[in-house]
Amino acid sequence: MKRLVNLLLWMKSKKGSSSDVNIHTAYENRNDVHDDRIKRVREYVLTDSRERGNHGIDHWDRVYANGQLLVSRKVKSLVVGLFAYLHDFCRENDGVDLQHGPRAAEFIDTVRDSLLKDVGDEDIRLLKEACRLHTVADRTGNPTIDACFDADRLDLGRVGIIPDPERMATKKGKEIAKALYVGN
Ligand SMILES: [Fe+2]
Repeated sequence: MKRLVNLLLWMKSKKGSSSDVNIHTAYENRNDVHDDRIKRVREYVLTDSRERGNHGIDHWDRVYANGQLLVSRKVKSLVVGLFAYLHDFCRENDGVDLQHGPRAAEFIDTVRDSLLKDVGDEDIRLLKEACRLHTVADRTGNPTIDACFDADRLDLGRVGIIPDPERMATKKGKEIAKALYVGN
């Protein structure tokens, strides 16, 4: 609950503000990447020096944090955590690049036996599907994939887009979007 309150306070502070708030703080203060497999992927993506704009590590850390709020008994937290750091990794630009999801899924295959060697086949399948579909599907009905979608969408405020609660893929994502952006 404390994590949710912190996130809400931070996002409220961003709302309507044009100042450059230290958005990294929300992630660093929690320091809650406990899974070595996710830590390893986070370290790996940080070695890539491409200019990322709105789709770089600050965004990925927030997607990670959002994802942890969406984890439930039916949601695989490892998949949601890995999605945070990989879903935008293969973007070729900071604008419209609808193929970056399928490229991320292909990239996952290339590191399946190295960076992701400790991740099970079913988790890899879910991770690839979440990456592949995250720009083209509203929801899938799979709790883990839908949590990935919402973790990403809850950070749309960074580019001035208010997430529509009705377009969130999970019940919890809808509740958070309402609380953050609609004021309920
Ligand atoms: Fe994203």
